[in-house]
Amino acid sequence: MAFVLTCLFLSCYSVSSVWGNQHSDTSIYLDNITRILDRLLDGYDNRLRPGFGGPVTEVKTDIFVTSFGPVSDVEMEYTMDVFFRQTWIDERLKFEGPIEILRLNNLMVSKIWTPDTFFRNGKRSISHNMTTPNKLFRIMQNGTILYTMRLTINAECPMRLMNFPMDGHACPLKFGSYAYPISEIVYTWKKGPLSSVEVPQESSSLLQYDLIGQTVSSERLKSNTGEYVIMTVHFHLQRKMGFFLIQTYIPCIMTVILAQVSFWINKESVPARTVFGITTVLTMTTLSIISARHSLPKAFYATADCSLPFALPSPFSALIEFALTTSPPCRLTEPRRKAAAMKAAPKR
Ligand SMILES: *[C@@H]1O[C@H](CO)[C@@H](O)[C@H](O)[C@H]1NC(C)=O
Ligand SMILES: *[C@@H]1O[C@H](CO)[C@@H](O)[C@H](O)[C@H]1NC(C)=O
Ligand SMILES: *[C@@H]1O[C@H](CO)[C@@H](O)[C@H](O)[C@H]1NC(C)=O
Repeated sequence: MAFVLTCLFLSCYSVSSVWGNQHSDTSIYLDNITRILDRLLDGYDNRLRPGFGGPVTEVKTDIFVTSFGPVSDVEMEYTMDVFFRQTWIDERLKFEGPIEILRLNNLMVSKIWTPDTFFRNGKRSISHNMTTPNKLFRIMQNGTILYTMRLTINAECPMRLMNFPMDGHACPLKFGSYAYPISEIVYTWKKGPLSSVEVPQESSSLLQYDLIGQTVSSERLKSNTGEYVIMTVHFHLQRKMGFFLIQTYIPCIMTVILAQVSFWINKESVPARTVFGITTVLTMTTLSIISARHSLPKAFYATADCSLPFALPSPFSALIEFALTTSPPCRLTEPRRKAAAMKAAPKR
């Protein structure tokens, strides 16, 4: 019994000593990292860009789209969720230590210089804060910094709806530095022009459009305060025809055909033809109002939606034709015409 107890005690002791050792090891390790961070921040001025007064800072960017859509035709804007990534080199943050990469979060971000990137055509973009600001910050030993954040971007997308509903649009996203001109900061695409903007197939949540692809480019813009680099992504959208085919075109075509049917109805049955004519005209008008136009801005130019300009004349003219055929001169039937002729004859 005593032997067992001793064994138990010894094993407990050894376990606790291992624990204690590990604990002091990790605390030395943490001390070490804390010291590295403190040394990095010691004398660091986050108001100055890396290489201030010297070489241009190159910020490499790439974008991962987690959800694209919806696109609003009425507001001419679109929304998407992205991971926006920026990489640059800050010589002041070089360090030596037991660790290759310092993986940090938003608490460090506020103490370090970061690019003042803004979205030129953004309207109401959100930087997510739940539960803490969604930011990732990594410092590599050679001073390379990776800074990513999660954003919901709501941006303008000018649309020309001339070809509606067979139209396609290129929705741009433009960003650049707000304060630093080209002599201070340049932006580049990190993974080249082809793969810097990733949109996985499943991330598209578009109902009315197909996302065909995206192209990236960069341009320069001269303004009063200097010359700036503007990075541009174009998302190419093509409208899905199916929706309008079912919603508008097919009912439209059917109503036009129905309007022709009224010609086969005996012209004596006035109520039937009147109802037919008026109903088809009203249906066309209603279709044109509720279906397509309702999801479009009140464009002053004609679009190619079938509704009013092309189809309405058909039932309308059918109704007019009926009205003409039933007007008094034509309505005289054979017997009454004979009677009229007989009445007229004796006078001669
Ligand atoms: C960090 O710890 C290592 C040993 O693990 C030591 O060689 C190095 O000097 C320490 N660095 C600092 C900044 O304390
Ligand atoms: C996000 O949180 C920070 C503090 O954690 C606060 O200063 C900031 O205003 C918040 N932003 C929004 C949009 O709520
Ligand atoms: C800095 O280090 C990272 C990872 O250690 C590496 O991927 C990167 O190419 C390095 N950059 C330069 C400029 O050496």
